[in-house]
Amino acid sequence: MKKLAAEKAVEYVENGMTLGLGTGSTVEYALKKLGEMVKNGLDIKGIPTSMRTRKIAKEENISLTTMEENPEIDLTIDGADEVDSELNLIKGGGGALTREKIVAYHSKREIIVIDETKVVKALGIDFPLPVEVVKYGWSSTKNKLEEFGCNVKLRKIMGDPYITDNSNYILDCEFVRIDDPEQLEVDINNIPGVVENGLFIGLTDDVIVGSKQGIKTLTR
Ligand code: 5RP
Repeated sequence: MKKLAAEKAVEYVENGMTLGLGTGSTVEYALKKLGEMVKNGLDIKGIPTSMRTRKIAKEENISLTTMEENPEIDLTIDGADEVDSELNLIKGGGGALTREKIVAYHSKREIIVIDETKVVKALGIDFPLPVEVVKYGWSSTKNKLEEFGCNVKLRKIMGDPYITDNSNYILDCEFVRIDDPEQLEVDINNIPGVVENGLFIGLTDDVIVGSKQGIKTLTR
């Protein structure tokens, strides 16, 4: 289902585009497909949103650039952890939310690729909201986040804190549900120490959903 969605999104890529390259297992199918297209003559420049995506894109011989060299991004293909009916998202399961949000914000078009399990009635139901925070004072930042009524866990990997590509921590905030994602996005980012949170509000143009029945596209 992920592969179906990712390969459909790649159909929107045109020669000469500067492309935002998202992060995650769904996007990896798109990177593989782009690699094949590059082999067959497609000329694109990619802006990776994580070290992992950078590595895969290089293996696929996709030319890379930076936002400094190419500030105008034509199209970004990225994944998500949850999508609601207004195409607002929770992202950051792969820890790349800050770079992903910067790239999404500066993209003319943001296409999200998911499988059908990620479509939810309200954000926060199935997936905790990731918040990237600087290490300094992180436990006080955590206490402040708990005032929003969520249970907050420091993300760990094999017993040690998970470190983002920006050398920060991730705090995963478990809500019962998020009733006002627009307001919560702003309120969380107002806490000193918070770098960015995984609520993507109004940034998505299309969501391509892979399901057992085939592909469905949701458009804003
Ligand atoms: C990374 C992300 C990913 O796009 C999100 O976690 C979805 O990942 P996957 O495609 O592996 O399910 O936000 O920060």
